[in-house]
Amino acid sequence: MSDVIKKAIFPAAGLGTRFLPATKASPKEMLPIVDKPMIQYGIEEAISCHINEIIIITGKHKRSIEDHFDYAFELEDKLKKSGKKNLLEEINRLSKINIAYIRQGYALGLGHAISCAKPFVKEEPFAVILSDDIIDPEDTLLRDMVRLYKELRSPVLALERVPVSEIHRYGVIDGVRERDGVFRISNLVEKPSAEHAPSDLAIIGRYILTPEIFDILAKSRPGKGGEIQLTDAIRKLSKERPVYGFLFEGRRYDAGDKLGYLKATVDFALKNPSLAEQFRSYILEVSRKLKH
Ligand code: UTP
Repeated sequence: MSDVIKKAIFPAAGLGTRFLPATKASPKEMLPIVDKPMIQYGIEEAISCHINEIIIITGKHKRSIEDHFDYAFELEDKLKKSGKKNLLEEINRLSKINIAYIRQGYALGLGHAISCAKPFVKEEPFAVILSDDIIDPEDTLLRDMVRLYKELRSPVLALERVPVSEIHRYGVIDGVRERDGVFRISNLVEKPSAEHAPSDLAIIGRYILTPEIFDILAKSRPGKGGEIQLTDAIRKLSKERPVYGFLFEGRRYDAGDKLGYLKATVDFALKNPSLAEQFRSYILEVSRKLKH
């Protein structure tokens, strides 16, 4: 099997219930963080790791994702005529990304969404990126995972230590520390209660997987929440071959959750050269008011 990761799957067919009513008819993945939709951050992260073949799993009400990464003749013509060269380049760049779309007819779970990509992935290792987990673009999480896969030739999941009060929202691993930041996984539990969590190491939205997962997913039955869970399939995979966890210690935003979304917006606005100064003054003004 190749040791180069060329493909990334972006599951984007979920119903986004935590963001209703905003997500009733529009995709969560298209909610903007400052001026870019969430999914664009993930795609740029993949491309920065030379993962250039993108597969997006879409569903109902997700057409605007395809439109966003399509050629926009009228808009580009207008930008050209009005001399807005930088914007034109930015817009044009989006239509050059190599993206395949697969439709998941029913939102039967993350595991099911991944299984829909089987015909495109075939016998290669691949990355999975959950675009509502936004990683600070200055962090090198995915690059480090790709490097670790090359060395270990085994699946690698991104992990983060989370407080006990939040553990029930995540897939959680049990495992043995192999070396600094690398764990050999012995078990995975989806959304455990605090007392049943095997550790505080939660799986976050970046995975490097191998194609054996497709056969396991094909035989999977619905698990927690009635959904076909990726965590359950990876647990089975971990009984057949080594599966590793890579501990991420950088900045991640759970932008599928309202508070995480707001934190990402504030931090990205403070880093945006055209906004930073004015936005910082506004934040200071708000915090002064809150103190009084
Ligand atoms: P989430 O658990 O965040 O679910 O899915 P969701 O539907 O997006 O949002 P909430 O929890 O209802 O607010 C994790 C990822 O898996 C995708 C989602 O689009 C998201 O990227 N997913 C989930 C699918 O593609 N298909 C599914 O059937 C379920």
